[in-house]
Amino acid sequence: MRIAGRMALIQPFHVMALLARARELEAAGRSIIHMEIGEPDFVTPAPVIEAGQAALAAGFTHYTPATGLPALRARIAQFYLERYGVQVDPQRIVITPGASSALHLALAMVVNPGDRVLLSDPGYPCNRNFVYLLNGTPVSLPVAADTAWQPSAAQVETAWQGTTAALLLASPSNPTGTVLDVEQLRAYHTIVSARGGLLIVDEIYHGLVYGGQAATALSVSDDICVINSFSKYFGMTGWRLGWLVAPQALVPALDKLAQNLYLAAPTVSQHAALRAFDADNLAILEQRRERFRQRRDYLLPALRELGFVIPVEPSGAFYLYADCSRFSTDSFAFSQQLLEAAGVAITPGIDFGRHRPERHVRLAYTTSLEHLQEGVRRLREYLL
Ligand SMILES: Cc1ncc(COP(=O)(O)O)c(C=O)c1O
Repeated sequence: MRIAGRMALIQPFHVMALLARARELEAAGRSIIHMEIGEPDFVTPAPVIEAGQAALAAGFTHYTPATGLPALRARIAQFYLERYGVQVDPQRIVITPGASSALHLALAMVVNPGDRVLLSDPGYPCNRNFVYLLNGTPVSLPVAADTAWQPSAAQVETAWQGTTAALLLASPSNPTGTVLDVEQLRAYHTIVSARGGLLIVDEIYHGLVYGGQAATALSVSDDICVINSFSKYFGMTGWRLGWLVAPQALVPALDKLAQNLYLAAPTVSQHAALRAFDADNLAILEQRRERFRQRRDYLLPALRELGFVIPVEPSGAFYLYADCSRFSTDSFAFSQQLLEAAGVAITPGIDFGRHRPERHVRLAYTTSLEHLQEGVRRLREYLL
């Protein structure tokens, strides 16, 4: 059957093959330590689950407006004020089915066929594919530990050529966990806005920052697109709910695009999410954040001691991006070996871009401290 040529550009997640093999080994009775999974191991906190159940019982099963429940848009605006001291007009907030749809919407707003979109490499793999779907050209900005895995202003300036539409960054980043400060955000914004482009900042791992709060790009300017989600900090991956804060002028276009692409984000999830910002729920999330911090504080030195090179301390998300070249310069084969021989599942660098993926792997601390300790024990036994 004939399929569109662009489909050849879209890569699956390589880690899925590893995950499938891990499940096979588990079915055959092997114990596997999962350090490849990019979602919190905790279930959604009880207050939100109860609010979801109540929403269902109350019959909230119809579509909401395409931009989302007005009460939820207002609640998110209030959250920006409470947490960051930033005033955001609720009209600028568009509720989406996950950050995934928010990324799709934001890029669809500005990318013409052939337009370039600058992305850090390594970075979140789907971004490149969203650009391909719009027949745009993703442009990798190779980043390394010397700039804390984020592009320098000079790099952005050089890469910004004629038909560039946007710069898309994440803070904290997946896979590296590094955070952008407000000066960096301001510098990017100055460069991008002077060239008539759009700065898009994916803040999905905000909230999961250890030692001080990350700055939101919304504190820099109103004409930046900021993406966030209930998936990670709020522990609601399966509810498929996120949001986009857009420059006011883009909102009517986003509204009509949302109507056409998915009509509305899930209604029950939106009602449940209203409860996510209440003090009792936030207290649970803060305890979880502390658990993630403890895991990072255990895993980072333990991996370094084994010989993985992690030069910059990741201050957010739940990932460590490690140079594994002491053990192998084929990180995909290395990940397969670790799975087969040591029973430890990790993600090879190839899933995050083209800049030295063969030397890197990502380890997620989305499993208990006890599992992480067992994982490190198995790695030590196998590698040393
Ligand atoms: C950086 C980043 N952005 C966006 C997403 C999409 O998340 P969701 O659609 O669940 O909100 C992810 C998921 O792993 C991510 O890591």
